[in-house]
Amino acid sequence: EDEDLPKGLRQLKLPPDKTSNSNKILQFQRNRTTRIKLDRKSLNFTPSCEFTGREAVSAVTRAQSQVCKQRIVNVTCLNQQGLLYPERIQSLCPHSPGFIDKPVSLGCFKDDKTLRILSGYYHVFKGNNSPERCAFLCLQSGYLYAGTEYSVECFCGMEKPSQLKRLPDSSCNMKCSGNPKYSCGGYLTINVFWTGIQKFKAQEARNTSIDGENEKPVRIAYLLTVNGRASRQVKRLINILYHPSHLFYIHVDARQDYLYREMLEVEKSCKTNNIKVARGENLRHASIWGGASLLTTLLKSAQQMLAHHHHWDFLVNLSESDFPIKNNVQLTQFLSLNKGMNFVKSHGREVQRFITKQGLDKTFVECETRMWRIGDRKLPDGIQIDGGSDWVALSRDFVEYVANPNPDTLVTDLLKVFKYTLLPAESFFHTVLRNSKFCNTYIDNNLHVTNWKRKLGCKCQYKAVVDWCGCSPNDFKLEDFSRIRNTIDRNLFFARKFESIIDQRIIDRVEEWLYSENLNKTINAKGYDAYWQSLYHAADLSPLTDDAQLTVSNSLARLIFHKLNVNYKDVRLLETTAYFKQNQFVGILILAEVTLQQQTVQQKRIESLVYPRHNFSTSREWLGKIQSLCVNTDYDQKEKTFRNLIGSIGPYSYPVLSYEFDIGITTPQNLSILWVDPYGRLAEVNYIQLEEMTLTGYVKPQFNEHLVVGTWHLFLVADSLLVAKMNFLVTPLAYWKNKKIDPEKAKEVNNASVDSYHITEEINKKWSHLLNSVNFYERTTHMTDNEIKINSNLDQWIDKLVQKHYEIDKICNVNDTELKLQKCINTYWSSLSPDTKADINNLC
Ligand code: UDX
Repeated sequence: EDEDLPKGLRQLKLPPDKTSNSNKILQFQRNRTTRIKLDRKSLNFTPSCEFTGREAVSAVTRAQSQVCKQRIVNVTCLNQQGLLYPERIQSLCPHSPGFIDKPVSLGCFKDDKTLRILSGYYHVFKGNNSPERCAFLCLQSGYLYAGTEYSVECFCGMEKPSQLKRLPDSSCNMKCSGNPKYSCGGYLTINVFWTGIQKFKAQEARNTSIDGENEKPVRIAYLLTVNGRASRQVKRLINILYHPSHLFYIHVDARQDYLYREMLEVEKSCKTNNIKVARGENLRHASIWGGASLLTTLLKSAQQMLAHHHHWDFLVNLSESDFPIKNNVQLTQFLSLNKGMNFVKSHGREVQRFITKQGLDKTFVECETRMWRIGDRKLPDGIQIDGGSDWVALSRDFVEYVANPNPDTLVTDLLKVFKYTLLPAESFFHTVLRNSKFCNTYIDNNLHVTNWKRKLGCKCQYKAVVDWCGCSPNDFKLEDFSRIRNTIDRNLFFARKFESIIDQRIIDRVEEWLYSENLNKTINAKGYDAYWQSLYHAADLSPLTDDAQLTVSNSLARLIFHKLNVNYKDVRLLETTAYFKQNQFVGILILAEVTLQQQTVQQKRIESLVYPRHNFSTSREWLGKIQSLCVNTDYDQKEKTFRNLIGSIGPYSYPVLSYEFDIGITTPQNLSILWVDPYGRLAEVNYIQLEEMTLTGYVKPQFNEHLVVGTWHLFLVADSLLVAKMNFLVTPLAYWKNKKIDPEKAKEVNNASVDSYHITEEINKKWSHLLNSVNFYERTTHMTDNEIKINSNLDQWIDKLVQKHYEIDKICNVNDTELKLQKCINTYWSSLSPDTKADINNLC
């Protein structure tokens, strides 16, 4: 379960196109034998070939821009003409021709003091000179950690040799096969790598090998590919990994303005010049999940890292959600003992099964930040395909080889294949390793523990960016700590995934465990049990902020100054931040400033802590039976939580209800959920059946595409009794694509009057009694009133609604002497107060 196995679960059924041609595609999906044709009229270019492939036609039809359509067409045509991929690639691995790899789990052994090998590979050579030649290679030791004594046994014949040859370093296999003294003739070759198992023994040996023989500890180059807004977590990661002898190269997804600015600050604060951020169009990529661009990112970054004056021996790639589970000394020692080796994790399945699951036998084209599946392909002959996880630790020599700007034929040809491959970083390095002269340095261990929970993580959650159903590992939580602690004797140095907004306690726990000598300092550091994550920053251009979030944040900024009775001209929202304390979400922080009306130059800047109100009540009989009931957007099925921390819902949002009932509840229990719009009209009814095992879950109502703005109501009915009710806001929008909305657009967006919902008369009748007994505020207003509000008083209208759904609790003062408020820097909840774990100022 902890292995980083292939992500590709199954093919995503291609969606029908909504704009044109939809019938044809639907029809085709129903009847696979029907041929469909490309609608040439939708193209402003002439396709270079005739093509009818279902997947390619679907991709061209779904793509929006002509550039992307043309790219899909060109690649499809090249593939059809057999010009896209090399037919055959020559492997450069000395063992290579025609060998079959079979993972084995037994067979490498010594007495129980010195050797335990967990897995190895059994290579069967089918040479010209029969009988069969076999080689047995144990590449991974579960106790390599203590691996200072490498011994090699190379012998011929079926019997074990009496004498053991010891070789001083880990490249024994190469020496064995290269050096005539140890070379293996005959038809059976066994090379066993093993290591001293007892830690103290290893320690002694390590000292001899490092100090005694003047071996320098290796230097590590970390390649951090980061995305999202968890800048404080990335800083914490850098803090814990930092050592002056290591290099940190940070690639921020090209679309993430905020994280990029934050990382530039990290780079600036480090005078020693060993933290470097990728800059410019050539070096920054929109590295979408599973995209070909992720491989480009890794290779281009590797080239920059090789060119950096800071010399390094190993490249280790990590993301924003990785965290170490051994300390820096342990990792450095381990890699020092394994200099020249390459650590990658293989799938451990039958190769063909891996290829199919991973979609390696399909051509994918990346454009419009999406991986389009365009059809089948034949993988080149002559090489061994391998893959698994894209988290790796590669030796400098291998990186120089694989990322060389003028690569040899093997790499050039493999790059042609992997340019059109889904999740290329999960197979490219493995495949190059296996087929190059580095094949003997392959170690089937990527030093990572991955928290796979496939039932949760394989929900096809990336279908918005790839034509495939992928999986993602889950975040570790505190209760998983024993799993991490149990890796103590294994050569595992990192774990993924961690997210402070999901569980910060596990990150704290791991850090306390790794650096127990600093325990007091760590846990007493300022801001230790708090976490802040940015939701919005005024300098962000990309990605676009959700307009509902922007509307609510701006409204809150106005309401805060209003509460302070400050006479202002203009309120500017600077930042919106989610604030967590003791691992609980507390509320939203709004950082804003005003220019005072009297003095045009003077500005007041404040930060305020705001709580979303939970307008929720239950009947007396049901008190305590409902743990939570929440309507919000961006429900993450994997972590079973909403990602929209401010909870803003706009007219174009897709609200979801999540529920959690108490285990004491009588089951089975049938519940009806009534969604009622601000005018008291029944918009949707959902039914859930609570069973003993399904007390938590979520419901996605099917609404019209455009929601009516105002306060919505949700009723929970059990046995025709109203047991709980709550309301939520669908906010009118004051922004459209992040710009102030113009009156015309505002009218269209905020004044939707839905003629009818898809509720039958019968159902309406069934619930009318209940609905008539409730007083709906908006029922008393007329649609035309809204028009007035939209035209002249949009902000006031929004503020009035927002006030009902959010509570402004505390305010601190950033830069003002007149306001009698606590200074934010001394206010524990403020995003401006100290946060030592994410403070990189004294790092280097
Ligand atoms: C899983 C696997 O664990 C991983 O090996 C594989 O690369 C993708 O699938 P998952 O958690 O789903 O991981 O992906 P995530 O860690 O979110 O993203 C993988 C990498 O791509 C990270 O470095 C992330 O920063 C980067 N990424 C992701 C981007 O740069 N931009 C994006 O839009 C998404």
